[in-house]
Amino acid sequence: MKFLAFAALVAAVVSAFPAPELPAGIPRSLSEFKEKHPYTVKRSSHCRKTVSIRASQNDTDDVADDFLRGLKQANNGGTLYLPKDKTFVIGKPLDLTFLNDVQVHLEGEIKFTNDTAYWQKNAFAHPFQNSLMFWKWGGKNIKIYGNGVLNGNGQRWWNEFAGSEILDPGNTYLRPILFYAENTTGIEIEGIHFKDSPCWTTFFVTSKHISFKDVACTAESNNATALPKNSDFFDSLNVEHVSVERAWVNIGDDCFSPKSNATDLYVNTMYCNGTHGQSMGSIGQYSGEKSFIRDVVIENLWMLNGQHGARLKSWAGPDVGYGFIDNVTFRNFWNANNEYSAFLDSCYFNVNATTCSAYPSQVNISNVNFENFSGYTSGKYGRAVARLTCSPNAVCENIKFKNFNVTSPCGGEPVVICDGISGDLGVPCVNSTSPEAKAALKNKCSTAMATLPKPTPWS
Ligand SMILES: *[C@@H]1O[C@H](CO)[C@@H](O)[C@H](O)[C@H]1NC(C)=O
Ligand SMILES: *[C@@H]1O[C@H](CO)[C@@H](O)[C@H](O)[C@H]1NC(C)=O
Ligand SMILES: *[C@@H]1O[C@H](CO)[C@@H](O)[C@H](O)[C@H]1NC(C)=O
Ligand SMILES: *[C@@H]1O[C@H](CO)[C@@H](O)[C@H](O)[C@H]1NC(C)=O
Ligand SMILES: *[C@@H]1O[C@H](CO)[C@@H](O)[C@H](O)[C@H]1NC(C)=O
Ligand SMILES: *[C@@H]1O[C@H](CO)[C@@H](O)[C@H](O)[C@H]1NC(C)=O
Ligand SMILES: *[C@@H]1O[C@H](CO)[C@@H](O)[C@H](O)[C@H]1NC(C)=O
Ligand SMILES: *[C@@H]1O[C@H](CO)[C@@H](O)[C@H](O)[C@H]1NC(C)=O
Ligand SMILES: *[C@@H]1O[C@H](CO)[C@@H](O)[C@H](O)[C@H]1NC(C)=O
Ligand SMILES: *[C@@H]1O[C@H](CO)[C@@H](O)[C@H](O)[C@H]1NC(C)=O
Ligand SMILES: *[C@@H]1O[C@H](CO)[C@@H](O)[C@H](O)[C@H]1NC(C)=O
Ligand SMILES: *[C@@H]1O[C@H](CO)[C@@H](O)[C@H](O)[C@H]1NC(C)=O
Repeated sequence: MKFLAFAALVAAVVSAFPAPELPAGIPRSLSEFKEKHPYTVKRSSHCRKTVSIRASQNDTDDVADDFLRGLKQANNGGTLYLPKDKTFVIGKPLDLTFLNDVQVHLEGEIKFTNDTAYWQKNAFAHPFQNSLMFWKWGGKNIKIYGNGVLNGNGQRWWNEFAGSEILDPGNTYLRPILFYAENTTGIEIEGIHFKDSPCWTTFFVTSKHISFKDVACTAESNNATALPKNSDFFDSLNVEHVSVERAWVNIGDDCFSPKSNATDLYVNTMYCNGTHGQSMGSIGQYSGEKSFIRDVVIENLWMLNGQHGARLKSWAGPDVGYGFIDNVTFRNFWNANNEYSAFLDSCYFNVNATTCSAYPSQVNISNVNFENFSGYTSGKYGRAVARLTCSPNAVCENIKFKNFNVTSPCGGEPVVICDGISGDLGVPCVNSTSPEAKAALKNKCSTAMATLPKPTPWS
């Protein structure tokens, strides 16, 4: 289980703050989530041509060629059916960018081999953050649905990656993304459980009309010194019209994280445990390149045991890009044991204060709402419950908090820290050099992990 060591540490120093449980009616585990949001296959899917392929006999029985043949046969109006209790092992990269009106009905499991050296030599590559991909999906009107599992078999990848940092320019240990699509118009993913991705779970490039419904995404390590790093649920470049409705996510990085060039994104009802937050960006990474995120609504979020609730991040440093994040609403966020409930970071990635002020971010942030935030933080930043830092080289305007009531487990008055934001935030806020901010940040404490009933059905 990830966080095991961390949990033990926290248990030793837990404050007296009674960690509130999830409110009644909110699922506490993957199985409760599945009960509350069952996925049932719709009848309309039943009158298409159905194609079957042979299943794997064992963990090394690669059916990649069969899978490719099956998709070709099902293409243009049919369905590839992968039944329950069968495993389909994929051991070589697949180019699936030819798709047109095709469905995959996944009740069984698609599982990638963990021959890390092989994949590092043979996987597809994308220059953005040096990404590798097991396969490439692409085309028009693609639907993947069912109660099945897409398994990245990430454990070996995490074990071998342990101690490295993905954004370190010297990192050579690359790991594949579990699901990648490019040049796609119309892709629906329903019911599927994305499991144990070596790296990001999904990545969409130059695509539009992307939707997820009733999906689960988990990445859980059995090795306390090798956590599932960078297993973001959603990443993208150049996308329009994205929606995520009802998702259960328990992974080790960003929960929902569109990157450069994203327009019209809608997220409704998502549970994120142990994540880095609902993150706009990072954007502005590449030298001279413009990037933007606009027209986003993210609502009904249950954010637990992670870094941040709502987050926006832009790159600073000598060789970065520029751009803007505009018109983003984060609404109805319940926080439990997150470091900051709302966080604007204009000094991404890993730049110290000196470098950040010498080469500040050039990403403007405008028209952002944080509405109806409740719950409590972790105490890592004391009584500071939200922090917004605008770059001196950018404009941050019309940023509003409404109905914001996040408390600190350390007790006392919660404090919002803001630097460089134009205009009124709608809540009192103090700058980071003020005595109020310094006192709030110093007032650290810790609190228990937001709890589950025992025994936990989520394993
Ligand atoms: C959150 O993740 C931690 C670490 O994996 C786990 O121990 C805990 O049970 C999870 N909590 C919930 C509510 O799922
Ligand atoms: C796995 O199954 C394949 C196909 O049936 C077979 O050729 C191979 O010998 C099996 N490998 C092992 C290790 O059992
Ligand atoms: C690698 O995959 C094989 C076959 O699925 C499995 O037996 C083995 O435990 C995996 N190794 C790790 C470290 O997960
Ligand atoms: C756990 O991960 C560490 C890397 O941090 C690795 O050295 C070790 O072999 C892994 N343990 C197992 C049982 O695979
Ligand atoms: C998308 O399609 C265009 C041409 O239609 C092609 O040049 C490009 O390589 C494809 N892939 C991506 C990721 O854009
Ligand atoms: C994003 O859009 C801008 C134009 O607005 C373009 O210059 C840039 O290359 C795009 N970024 C990516 C990653 O495609
Ligand atoms: C802001 O985004 C929302 C959601 O996409 C959209 O409905 C609205 O028209 C946008 N507002 C402006 C001023 O563009
Ligand atoms: C950022 O805002 C400033 C001031 O309004 C404007 O001059 C600049 O063009 C904006 N930059 C981007 C990338 O939109
Ligand atoms: C505020 O958010 C909470 C959950 O975080 C939700 O139960 C409540 O209905 C929301 N209030 C409004 C007015 O939408
Ligand atoms: C900040 O980072 C830069 C670049 O990595 C480094 O040269 C500098 O010494 C650092 N400054 C401080 C105060 O740590
Ligand atoms: C703020 O939340 C706390 C519990 O976290 C609650 O006791 C208090 O009544 C709430 N205040 C408002 C104004 O809703
Ligand atoms: C920060 O706030 C303090 C008052 O608490 C004020 O004296 C100081 O000038 C402010 N600094 C900046 C950079 O605005």
